[in-house]
Amino acid sequence: MGDGTGIGATASATAVEGQYRRALEAAHRHAVAWLDEVRDRPVRPDADADGIVQRLPEQLPDEGLDPEAVVDELAEAARPGLMAMGSPRFYGFVIGGTYPAALAADWLVSAWDQNTGSRQPTPATAAVEEVAARWLLDLLGLPPDSGVGFATGATSANLSCLVVARDAVLRQHRHDARTGVQGGPRIRFLAGESVHTSVVLSGRVSGLGIPIKVRANRQGNIDVRALDEALADDDGPTIVALQAGDVHSGTFDDFRAAVEIAHDADAWVHVDGAFGLWAAASPRLRHLVEGVEGADSWATDAHKTLNVPYDCGVAIVRDEAAMSASLGAHAEYLPEVANVADPYDHVLELSRRARGVPVWAALRALGRGGVIALVDGLAEAAGALADGFRSIPGLEVLNDVVFTQVCLAAGDDAATAALGEWLRAEGTVWASSSTWRGRTVVRFAVSNYGTDAEAVQRTVDAVARGAAEVGIRVR
Ligand SMILES: Cc1ncc(COP(=O)(O)O)c(C=O)c1O
Repeated sequence: MGDGTGIGATASATAVEGQYRRALEAAHRHAVAWLDEVRDRPVRPDADADGIVQRLPEQLPDEGLDPEAVVDELAEAARPGLMAMGSPRFYGFVIGGTYPAALAADWLVSAWDQNTGSRQPTPATAAVEEVAARWLLDLLGLPPDSGVGFATGATSANLSCLVVARDAVLRQHRHDARTGVQGGPRIRFLAGESVHTSVVLSGRVSGLGIPIKVRANRQGNIDVRALDEALADDDGPTIVALQAGDVHSGTFDDFRAAVEIAHDADAWVHVDGAFGLWAAASPRLRHLVEGVEGADSWATDAHKTLNVPYDCGVAIVRDEAAMSASLGAHAEYLPEVANVADPYDHVLELSRRARGVPVWAALRALGRGGVIALVDGLAEAAGALADGFRSIPGLEVLNDVVFTQVCLAAGDDAATAALGEWLRAEGTVWASSSTWRGRTVVRFAVSNYGTDAEAVQRTVDAVARGAAEVGIRVR
């Protein structure tokens, strides 16, 4: 290495320790500086990805660099291209912030570097994840014996669950699931019209194919009668994907009715609840997911509503044995503890970081009361945003705001698009543009625990300024 301070075969233990310390202290300095400004700096980045590429060495230098200098160089180069995703006024996509305990625990996870695939070699992180899993099932009101896997996100959680579902319905129809979909009966895969793209992707990847779309109402709820009719079509292996929390409207399917109908038809019911499943944790909002516990599998995220750092999704399957049968990995060199599932039996990855540890830390810091306040707070902020937007002449809220999503529109699509662009450029807030029910919208997804009354007011003021700037008036 360039100045001889790199970690090599000849580096002494003390020199190595010094390098970790100095590199981590540099990372700590940059991280704290970032966190100190993230609430008040413009939400948008100042540079685009091409601009940041220009700030990084084009060719891999021949000479290495001291670890502390690497961290400094990285932080300096990246700085203008960072989006303040942790800002209480960041509403893009569905992105949570990061609680301090979860972030700090995530640092420990990196320092510990435990490949949390199997229980035996990594007892500490496997145990912490098991406790976190138990707490999650309790909070979400799901069957306590369910299998839980810590996946990278809701997409891979959806995929994991659908792979388990695929095998289960094949077995149910006397097909050897080990051969996958080869030579087996055709599986019907049904989902509501407003199914999230990650479920569609999971269908493609799992061999189920894209789902057959079942009619949904204007908010995006699956039409239970249409589902009933679709299920009556044939009695082959069937999987139904329902949704807790639509990405545009935030709406929830009628789980009680849909699960009953699907189970009457011997279908497997999966629920994509990337952010919406968390309504179950709140006594005030639990009615939105009534009956969801009757499903067979559920996918959710901790990096959205629970505000842990990326990346952390959760795959949950009622029948733990079915989960292990489909996702479990076995090889002579892999240790197994008899009769106890290993972490890699519940996710697609064999090797992975202990991403459930920050979940434990967030839950431990919040306690049950804190989780309830978090979920209620996000929904209240969304309601307050919608009220504020409705008071701005020329703007309307298109969805029924039942949870955390608000779709804002002006009278015509061009004006709505201009408002979205103005907001993202001005920097007080960041919200993504989309098309919903044939209209251009600016989507506000409230997912950050810091979105309080002040953040809501600043957001509404920014939208009012933007509406005036782009010439939105009452028509
Ligand atoms: C309803 C729904 N399902 C699935 C996903 C995918 O989640 P992830 O990005 O964590 O993979 C999202 C993301 O916003 C979502 O809103």
